[in-house]
Amino acid sequence: MNHLHTLIKTCYLVALLIQVSCQSGPVEVNTERTYGVMAKDAVVSTAHPVATQVGLDILKQGGNAYDAAVAVQFALAVVYPRAGNIGGGGFLVYRKSNGEIGSLDFREKAPFAAHKDMYLDENEEVIEDLSTKGHLAAGVPGAVDGMIELHKKLGSLPFAQLIQPAIDIANQGVVLTKREAAKLNDHQDNFNEINDYTTHFAKVLPWNHGDTLRLPDLAQTLMLIKANGRAGFYEGTTANLIINEMERGGGIISLEDLKSYKSVWRDPIVGSYRDHKIITMGPPSSGGIALLQLLAGSEPHDIKKLGFNETTTIHLMTELERRVYADRATHLGDPDFYDVPQAMLLDPVYLKDRFSSISLDKKTSSQEIKEGEVALIESIETTHFSIVDAWGNAASITTTLNGSFGSKVLVKGAGFLLNNEMDDFSVKPGVPNMFGLIGAEANAIQPKKRMLSSMTPTIVEKNDSLYMVVGTPGGSTIITSVYQTLLNVIDHDMTMQEAVNVGKFHHQWLPDHVLYESDGIDSATLEALQLMGHVMKPVDAIGRMDCILVNQNQLEGASDGLRGDNTAMGY
Ligand code: DON
Repeated sequence: MNHLHTLIKTCYLVALLIQVSCQSGPVEVNTERTYGVMAKDAVVSTAHPVATQVGLDILKQGGNAYDAAVAVQFALAVVYPRAGNIGGGGFLVYRKSNGEIGSLDFREKAPFAAHKDMYLDENEEVIEDLSTKGHLAAGVPGAVDGMIELHKKLGSLPFAQLIQPAIDIANQGVVLTKREAAKLNDHQDNFNEINDYTTHFAKVLPWNHGDTLRLPDLAQTLMLIKANGRAGFYEGTTANLIINEMERGGGIISLEDLKSYKSVWRDPIVGSYRDHKIITMGPPSSGGIALLQLLAGSEPHDIKKLGFNETTTIHLMTELERRVYADRATHLGDPDFYDVPQAMLLDPVYLKDRFSSISLDKKTSSQEIKEGEVALIESIETTHFSIVDAWGNAASITTTLNGSFGSKVLVKGAGFLLNNEMDDFSVKPGVPNMFGLIGAEANAIQPKKRMLSSMTPTIVEKNDSLYMVVGTPGGSTIITSVYQTLLNVIDHDMTMQEAVNVGKFHHQWLPDHVLYESDGIDSATLEALQLMGHVMKPVDAIGRMDCILVNQNQLEGASDGLRGDNTAMGY
């Protein structure tokens, strides 16, 4: 990946020079540039080629973007089980071809029996792994209800047609990519430790690239959903299997929790950045508010002139992120339980004041605000997909089990994984979760409350028309990856694919360090940032975006094939 990144950065810089010197001529496809999949009518971009194909087939059968989204969500639960799911949750942001916008919150909820100190021992210390592994880590899943709601409101084809491809793949099996085989191998011990039976993920010899993974139990569960709608999951056989699992493993999700789960249509958060309209996810995701705060803090600066991934650009963005993530930790939580001061957080006067302490040549220390010992971020296991159909309807969905393969609990007889989303709550004020994020009262555990998320499915309009569909996995780095990707296109004139490919960095207030992809920042810039006092920590990968750009009536589908198996297809 290192060489590819360097090559892409070089091509991008060369292309910029060519562009600048040809500005008066007509805009043409520049052969020096890196483009994604170019399509005239429609694009599907997901984390897995089989799921992308499923979505594309649905579009070709006459379905709209929302039909395809439902089909992709179920397909990902089969072909990409470490993050695709029916035992997790997520968020949709949509924009219909007529300009109507909305968002669906199908985030998991804390079970009714959950309580604030449920992960603490008698000395009020956090019990290791309890909120991340096993039955007690699971929130009440929202994905199935979400897909049924989405289909009811925005779909056009019969639901049975949309879930059938996932059933077929689960029965026939999916051929493992190299990455998927490796992930299954990495987690064999976890599957064996947490489950009291031999799951379909278990294997004596290692999984290999090209092996076929069959999931007949999951196919059965999907058939129940096909036949009975939400009752096929939240009641009857599937619900009973979940409860059996809870009883066996000491979990607390009850039949009543399952039966009463409802996803919620919410107003998306809308803001602007340099004449672009930004439509993004509001609480219980922190993503939308944080993204708009970052964009507001960037707008007064000439980001283009500062340059892509140059010292001052990275410094400025880091300083903005430091302040925005501090706000996130204190002020954001489930709006059904906590009065999120959304208006204040997005108020231009507040933001001007909030960012006024930023100096362009001096680092601020997060430690002045609060000290925190934190864990490093886990591997990237949420998943995002973006779809635009031939009518111009757009869907931006980020969905997750939280960690890789969630809680590692595979519901016996039902063949699906439960999430470990409870870790996204602040299990104790000031104690970091698996992404190093800390929180307080706003995100404390309460029965039936939704845990705060960073997922940031986003849609951008330009001149009142659809312009971009953007999103990524990455835990706390989701917000900053989406932020950089928007700046890459809007300020740095990158193609969608270049914006996805180029190196990313991330700061989240605490811990006070900048994570960066080592090939994304050159050594002189790195040194200059270190001289300013920034603690720079290289990581393998940040983000795994699936995005679509509308450009001169063409669609560019850009999926992250560098960092994952992500694939865009279109027609
Ligand atoms: O909702 C959230 O913010 C997290 N549960 C997302 C987890 C994620 O992106 C996993 N990938 N690193």
